[in-house]
Amino acid sequence: MQIAMIQDEIVPMEEVGSVYLDRGVFFGDGVYEVVRSYNGKVFALEEHLQRFAKSLAAIGITKVDIDEVRARVQQAFDTAGISNAKIYFHITRGSAPRNHVYDKNLEPNFFLTVTELADDTEAKNKGIAVSTHPDWRWKRCDIKSLNLLPNVLARQDAAGKGCAEAIFVDDAGLITEGASSAFFGIFGQRLQTAPLANNILPSITRGFVIEANKNVGLELVEKSFTPAQAADADELFIAVTTQDIVPVVKFDDKIIGDGKPGSSTKQLMAEFQSLVL
Ligand code: PDD
Repeated sequence: MQIAMIQDEIVPMEEVGSVYLDRGVFFGDGVYEVVRSYNGKVFALEEHLQRFAKSLAAIGITKVDIDEVRARVQQAFDTAGISNAKIYFHITRGSAPRNHVYDKNLEPNFFLTVTELADDTEAKNKGIAVSTHPDWRWKRCDIKSLNLLPNVLARQDAAGKGCAEAIFVDDAGLITEGASSAFFGIFGQRLQTAPLANNILPSITRGFVIEANKNVGLELVEKSFTPAQAADADELFIAVTTQDIVPVVKFDDKIIGDGKPGSSTKQLMAEFQSLVL
């Protein structure tokens, strides 16, 4: 008899629910997105859907209609009635008994949550501390995959050090990005961040920071930098959908600037808000 055991209960294999057999659980075999709303309006949904479509294509999940995903996101958001919401959704390849090789006819599984965004006023006003962590991820970080174990371990390590984000450092000693954010440094009039490549996520917020900077006028340099250079920066910040721009005032043990959010970062934050409203 083929069986499964769920907690302490023996279940015949054919009665095991599809949630337990989800390839997302076995293999992280799926991709996800996080979108947010500002004041009752979903922000940058098309950009997120485009990236989602690319992630799906990159891992060969072909049966998904993006128009339907858009409709589901909108329907769920409207139903929740949360004005500043975080909308998480993922699609996994489907459910089947564990086997690395998959059947191309599997029906993908869709899952979505709409929750209230946490109040981040204090983080934005005071800035956050971050700590570095080795980048243990795979070579396709441009895919927004459900495989987030390195990110989880890095964030947990940072939290244990009282830090709000972990900053990944690759084998060459260069910063790639945050464990769940893009990372920027300001050096004089230069705004610097890692170039888009397979080793980082093409962050939607990163794109809007670059857009916001057109009105701030810093020189954009898409070139990776080291932790030592970051520690010496005039200003640092992270960028992520759920929080847009958050100033970084402590990098490992080093206080950045005067330990308060810097003026260029504040200008970028203000410009960002004007893109949102
Ligand atoms: N994280 N880099 C990584 C590794 C990320 O996981 C994220 C987002 C970003 C920022 O991307 P965007 O600007 O598109 O949100 C960069 C999401 C929010 C998460 O995993 O919860």
